[in-house]
Amino acid sequence: MCPSEADKKRMARAKKPIVIVTRQLPDVIETRMMELFDTRLNDDDHPMTRDELVAAVKTADILVPTLTDRIDKGILAQAGDNLRLIANFGTGVDHIDLAAARERGITVTNTPGVLTEDTADMTMALILDVVRRVSQGERLIRSGEWSGWGPTTMLGHRLWGKRLGVIGMGRIGSAVARRAKGFGLSIHYHNRRQLPEHAEQELEATYWESLDQMLARMDIISVNCPHTPGTFHLLSARRLKLLKNTAVIVNTSRGEVIDEQALTRILRDKQIAGAGLDVFEHEPAVNPKLLALDNVTLLPHMGSATIEGRIDMGEKVIINIKTFADGHKPPDRVIDTLL
Ligand code: DGY
Repeated sequence: MCPSEADKKRMARAKKPIVIVTRQLPDVIETRMMELFDTRLNDDDHPMTRDELVAAVKTADILVPTLTDRIDKGILAQAGDNLRLIANFGTGVDHIDLAAARERGITVTNTPGVLTEDTADMTMALILDVVRRVSQGERLIRSGEWSGWGPTTMLGHRLWGKRLGVIGMGRIGSAVARRAKGFGLSIHYHNRRQLPEHAEQELEATYWESLDQMLARMDIISVNCPHTPGTFHLLSARRLKLLKNTAVIVNTSRGEVIDEQALTRILRDKQIAGAGLDVFEHEPAVNPKLLALDNVTLLPHMGSATIEGRIDMGEKVIINIKTFADGHKPPDRVIDTLL
């Protein structure tokens, strides 16, 4: 007997969506995804080539990329009609052409909120590292050249009482501010919008409408805004020159927010005291001139790299896919908020 139209519809609904995951995810997440969806994994975790990404968007109903995949207009132009959702594993979506996705009717989701605390911890780690010269001290020991304690050796600066300027007072910026208060820093911030009074009071934060004016007065700058067309090189060569020569910059957001060449120059010329960078403009490439400098701490984009965080991110991806596959709007849609 042939299936009725109603049966066909039910069977079509029951068919598991093809989900292509571009990088290796935590075991528990991959296992759950295999149970729920027709999931294709990347077993050796290599970053996908452009050709592989094109093949993926041609086949998938749902793509699960990460920040190492550039999903640009050219790739999306080759997507099959069945690609309806890009469920990004990560919060930043600057590697996805959101406008092109919207034009093709593809929903994009991300994983906000679950990496806030981990990234804020790493921001504090970098602030402490640079201001108190932690990595420099570690390098000294390993070089075998440490000749013992001295009253004037390895002097850093006192954190307590200094001014922290947060660029981007969203979830992560606020979590940084909360921690920084505990270290005795006074909190200042620049944001697209001023926070409501109660939030400013909780953080004891001072709003600076003018980024230029804030930059010129801070001891430490923390970059916590997303990379969007509007924040590309927000810290331009001109703005970097406004910083005090004792200032320190920490970036756990995206490399593109700072003009990396200009930052390298002012670090080399000691026009600022130091920097702590977890992110770079052309990852995974790191400007060789930065590698040669001793007043910068360099980390391999590990701000959110905790086991707990990665599992939480994976669970968010699963919820977004499941909700979408069940015919509802997934909770973490980004397309409307960022365009
Ligand atoms: C993100 O999710 O965008 C983070 O940068 C990953 O660490």
